Amino acid sequence: MKVDVRIATREDLPAILSIYNQGIEDRITRLEQDPKDMAYIDTWFSQHNRRYPVFVATVGSNVVGWADLHPYSHRFAYADVGELSVYVERAWRGKGVGQALLRNLEIYAVEHGFHKLVLATFPFNQAGQGLYRKMGFREVGVFRRHGKLGGKWVDVMWMEKPLV
Ligand SMILES: CC(C)(COP(=O)(O)OP(=O)(O)OC[C@H]1O[C@@H](n2cnc3c(N)ncnc32)[C@H](O)[C@@H]1OP(=O)(O)O)[C@@H](O)C(=O)NCCC(=O)NCCS
Repeated sequence: MKVDVRIATREDLPAILSIYNQGIEDRITRLEQDPKDMAYIDTWFSQHNRRYPVFVATVGSNVVGWADLHPYSHRFAYADVGELSVYVERAWRGKGVGQALLRNLEIYAVEHGFHKLVLATFPFNQAGQGLYRKMGFREVGVFRRHGKLGGKWVDVMWMEKPLV
């Protein structure tokens, strides 16, 4: 199976939306409960640019996953710290798609002068942590009762990978 990774375009948004909503339904990824619609994902996509792109993984003509780089903070001191998200379509998980997305995202981040990548994940998201640890991320720490999911406080783990 050959997985290709490229910068996403607006034509990819229906597939990205569907994969994004799977993450919400699975309740292991986001502090969100309601599925998103095209208007939401269109606005989300518009917040990206050349420095903070959205990537898609494709197998043949199918979009099977996406990842993005977004600002960790708007404070100048953190301008070279990039935060990432990665989502793989359910049927394609465990087949190397997440690794391909992160590998490409990391190369892009190095080429565009990022100093470090960070991400937030739920401590119980075993697959996410497995992927990140395999790609060289380390646990920074866990915020206790930090975000609200379904009206309940949940812990949130931060991970990091220095690039230079
Ligand atoms: C997390 C996710 C992106 C991983 O992507 P993936 O394509 O399934 O992962 P890969 O097949 O590239 O696996 C890479 C490594 O991750 C780890 N991994 C993957 N799935 C795992 C699982 N279910 N449990 C533990 N480790 C796992 C393994 O170390 C694996 O390496 P190996 O195959 O040599 O053992 C995917 O499961 C997903 O989209 N989950 C829902 C969304 C999500 O949780 N995103 C992260 C939010 S923080």
